[in-house]
Amino acid sequence: MPPLRVLVVGASIAGPTAAYWFARAGAKVTVIERFPHLRTNGQNIDIRTVGVTVMRKMPGMEEAVRAKTIPLKCIAAVRSDGRPFGVISTTGNPDQQSLVSEFEIYRGDLSQILYDRTHAHPNITYIFGEQVASIQQHDQADGPVKVEFASGSPTMEFDLVVSCDGATSRTRAIGLGVGMRDYLEPTGTWAAFFSAKQDLLDGNNKMGKAYNAVGGRIIAAGPDPSGVSRVVLMKRYAQKDSSATQPFRDAMNQGGDALRQFVAQTYRGAGWKCDEVIKDMMEAEDFYASEIVHVKVPRLSKGRFVLVGDAGYAASTGTGTSLAMAGAYVLAGEVCKHKGDLAGALQGYEDVMRPLIDDMQKVPPLLPVFFTPQTAWGLWLRNMVFAFVCWSGILSLTQKFFSGAFAGTERYQLPQYEWQE
Ligand SMILES: Cc1cc2nc3c(=O)[nH]c(=O)nc-3n(C[C@H](O)[C@H](O)[C@H](O)COP(=O)(O)OP(=O)(O)OC[C@H]3O[C@@H](n4cnc5c(N)ncnc54)[C@H](O)[C@@H]3O)c2cc1C
Ligand SMILES: *[C@@H]1O[C@H](CO)[C@@H](O)[C@H](O)[C@H]1NC(C)=O
Repeated sequence: MPPLRVLVVGASIAGPTAAYWFARAGAKVTVIERFPHLRTNGQNIDIRTVGVTVMRKMPGMEEAVRAKTIPLKCIAAVRSDGRPFGVISTTGNPDQQSLVSEFEIYRGDLSQILYDRTHAHPNITYIFGEQVASIQQHDQADGPVKVEFASGSPTMEFDLVVSCDGATSRTRAIGLGVGMRDYLEPTGTWAAFFSAKQDLLDGNNKMGKAYNAVGGRIIAAGPDPSGVSRVVLMKRYAQKDSSATQPFRDAMNQGGDALRQFVAQTYRGAGWKCDEVIKDMMEAEDFYASEIVHVKVPRLSKGRFVLVGDAGYAASTGTGTSLAMAGAYVLAGEVCKHKGDLAGALQGYEDVMRPLIDDMQKVPPLLPVFFTPQTAWGLWLRNMVFAFVCWSGILSLTQKFFSGAFAGTERYQLPQYEWQE
């Protein structure tokens, strides 16, 4: 049987992980990425639960990740004058993770590690600066598909198209024949990420800092080995519908500096070091901002088209990276298991992933309110509760309460597959 020809769209986390496992399944893989190079910006992401399981199945991967994990040991919540009033720390046991994960790594570093493990493989080809223009089913209903590209690559035939191009995936709209915002569930939240030149952590590279202001605004800073502070500014609106974040999207569509101006305006005068941080943001080279959404599709595949990672099941609960890694592994594994039967493989992928997705997309009911209170009263109450919880050492209890999103590795089992390579 000739090797399966697989097109993977997107080279962030899900894409390179899918390329790795499809090569192990004996496929010939082409990965296309819309950007002209690997995107290495972004803030810290967590590898948890099934993400840890998949990482440990890739030889040498855990060591590579450990070499790049952020030295962060705890996060201090600070008052407007910078005084901390509560501290959350890691558990030190990766199998029993807390709010601060043991495998906390910058998104760009994880993406680079995955790319480094795949780009020289003889059966994997990366093409940067390319995206899908159209996908056409061949005459025979169950045959391969013909893919046209937008930036000059010749039209090619593939047995399977795997869309890994993120929550606002354009390829999803093409592959499923739906609108761009179909299946997006807004959370009424956006976030901006960048590096600040100044050290917001006063030389302590083990402790991050987080500061809340009214109106659901949070600013958090984490250490970076190179000496800068990695900053995230997040804003959660009281109403969750799409209209809340419309001004954010309008600013994004205007391009240029409009989005930075919009973020700056939201944070100016908010307290702590916000005003100085905004100055750094205006000049940051690695500025990245996005609306935070959930993606919920009725079915993960259609014909020869399938979604993996945020494109198919973005979760706003910090579990997106782990779900993406698990999805890539399971899809390639099911293809290996159902040799010559793609429909069976796609059904297997659906059956294994669905319960995992449903569970990991659940937002613990109080979590957003806890992290981004809207009102001065809510903020005061949150701070009191938080300070008390930290002081009295019952934080582990709180973490058990939020355990849906922060469970250990043993909570979910992934199937074992027999790989070809
Ligand atoms: C630059 C960047 C920074 C991020 N920063 C953070 C962060 O700080 N914190 C956090 O929690 N999450 C962040 N994320 C999201 C996080 O990576 C994902 O939630 C999670 O890891 C799942 O990854 P994914 O590979 O499914 O999707 P994503 O990480 O969203 O990757 C999608 C990839 O597809 C590419 N792409 C998009 N459209 C097309 C197209 N039409 N054709 C080809 N390629 C396309 C994108 O450039 C990107 O490389 C960031 C994502 C990106 C792209
Ligand atoms: C590449 O794919 C071919 C089948 O097309 C296979 O025989 C070969 O072992 C693969 N190479 C590697 C390094 O996996």
